[in-house]
Amino acid sequence: MTLEIQQATPQHALQIAYVKRRVWEDEQADETYIARVIAEPDHVTHIAVEDNTVVGFVDSFLTLSSEGMRRWEVDLLAVLPEHRGKGIASQLIAASTDAGHTMDAALMRALIAVDNVGSEKAFARCGYQTQDETCALYGSDGTADNLPHPNDLYLLPVTTFNYRGVWLEGKLSAEGFRKAQAVRARYQWDTAGAVIPLSQTQAVTAAQEAGYTFVAEYRWWHYRGR
Ligand SMILES: CC(C)(COP(=O)(O)OP(=O)(O)OC[C@H]1O[C@@H](n2cnc3c(N)ncnc32)[C@H](O)[C@@H]1OP(=O)(O)O)[C@@H](O)C(=O)NCCC(=O)NCCS
Repeated sequence: MTLEIQQATPQHALQIAYVKRRVWEDEQADETYIARVIAEPDHVTHIAVEDNTVVGFVDSFLTLSSEGMRRWEVDLLAVLPEHRGKGIASQLIAASTDAGHTMDAALMRALIAVDNVGSEKAFARCGYQTQDETCALYGSDGTADNLPHPNDLYLLPVTTFNYRGVWLEGKLSAEGFRKAQAVRARYQWDTAGAVIPLSQTQAVTAAQEAGYTFVAEYRWWHYRGR
């Protein structure tokens, strides 16, 4: 059996959706939507193919930080349970990291749940390093009145295999969390979300007060360009 890592095209969406559904049984996996995301110019999706069957994938995309730094977001990684432990995730991450270099990213990064040892090991094997700070992910599908845009808030529209949404970066205040809800609702995106270092207790409180829901604790893993 030969394993091949390839760049996916929209034609692979059906098989990718199958893997996604097997790995996250409670989550939606719409192949039409996934095909559209694969075709977006800032995304690169890789698949692991064994005997003409997709057994794993990773989807990554480019974002710009508020300072204009090009970041490669290694976003969604999955390997079918019966194919795990054979280095497939590590090969997918390596291919994605190469794509990040091609996209001229200065930073490749992944957000990994604190108890996801398999994912941590796969990223570590590919040269990624953990950022010490534990963060809480908060998300909201709520709405709010459209307020002025607070100073130092950075709202970043993103599309992933799971959702269209807006990430909050920069200064995270109660007004900022509500502004992001208003933007989300205006464009009918699925979610507004922020990754908040646990030490930023005021930001955590502001998210909670604005009705954002705690998702889980994560750590950033970084790989700096060659
Ligand atoms: C995380 C996941 C992608 C790993 O896939 P994989 O193909 O089994 O990973 P690899 O075979 O490349 O393993 C990489 C390393 O992690 C280790 N590893 C893999 N799964 C592990 C687990 N559950 N516990 C401990 N170590 C694990 C491997 O032994 C290997 O170690 P090594 O580098 O020292 O040899 C897979 O388990 C998965 O799809 N999980 C569910 C979805 C998920 O969590 N995605 C990641 C979100 S960031």
